[in-house]
Amino acid sequence: MISKIAVIGFGNIAKAIITPLLDNKLLDPKNIYCLVNSKKTLESIKQNYKYDVNIFQSNTKEAKIIWECPVKILSVKPQQLNEIIEIKNQKLSDNLIVSVLAGVSINKLRKRFPNHKCIRVVTNVPITIGRGLTGIAWGEEITSDQKIFIKKLFNNSSKVYEFLEDSLDIFLALTSSGPAIIALIIEALSDGGLSGGLQKKLSEELVMEMIIGTIDLIKQSNMTTTELRNMVTSPGGTTISAIRVLEKKSLRSALIESIISARNRSKEFS
Ligand SMILES: NC(=O)c1ccc[n+]([C@@H]2O[C@H](COP(=O)([O-])OP(=O)(O)OC[C@H]3O[C@@H](n4cnc5c(N)ncnc54)[C@H](OP(=O)(O)O)[C@@H]3O)[C@@H](O)[C@H]2O)c1
Repeated sequence: MISKIAVIGFGNIAKAIITPLLDNKLLDPKNIYCLVNSKKTLESIKQNYKYDVNIFQSNTKEAKIIWECPVKILSVKPQQLNEIIEIKNQKLSDNLIVSVLAGVSINKLRKRFPNHKCIRVVTNVPITIGRGLTGIAWGEEITSDQKIFIKKLFNNSSKVYEFLEDSLDIFLALTSSGPAIIALIIEALSDGGLSGGLQKKLSEELVMEMIIGTIDLIKQSNMTTTELRNMVTSPGGTTISAIRVLEKKSLRSALIESIISARNRSKEFS
């Protein structure tokens, strides 16, 4: 991978995508052209980022160079999208915008960047530790070579799934909002341990190990979730007692509705 890549908005998610590519030497820092908004962020990246990438502040003359890169990863906040003004590059006929903006449709991107082909990507925060999930919806006229290149950018630190754009909102709800939902469940279960007299830290550790162990067991044994539940739910026992409370409080329905609500909210943005 030798192509020049621009990153419009070199924040948390952009770094999570780019850094492992640099770590694994799939990209060269001198081919990365990053854009940020403030002088403060610019200085901080220059001083603290472990790679010597090209970095510019938006609204400066030099920043225009990013529009000469054939591939641009767009990673500003959705509300900052209107600040990004496309500059047409006469030299390049095949410019790509790869947007990770939550909920912003390909149609909206195409209107904003009429001289680019647009790709919409949804990724999630575990990408920062190389365990992300990435969903990609291709816009029109993306060549198979471009698809291979873009997939390579993401499958270094995440599992990549291709979707029609319609399915990206539900993918986002499950995988991007999911970590917050799981964190809340961990907190709540830990509070259960705390209520029963365990120290908070220990309780949290036990919950997390229990979750990891349960997932590994399901995966390794090829059990269904229902089979696992039946395995640990004995007649008149503690587990059925716990499950009875959860069913009474409609936990299952609350979780289903939470995902649908996140999906609908994502659709509102596009
Ligand atoms: N967080 C998540 O879980 C998650 C997951 C998947 C996707 N996303 C998407 O990823 C995108 C970025 O999120 P983030 O958490 O990485 O945000 P972030 O850390 O705030 O990064 C945004 C970056 O954009 C820069 N920026 C702002 N205005 C700009 C402009 N006019 N020109 C150039 N750069 C500009 C900011 O620079 P300054 O620091 O100088 O302002 C900052 O470097 C969002 O659209 C979000 O929807 C987030």
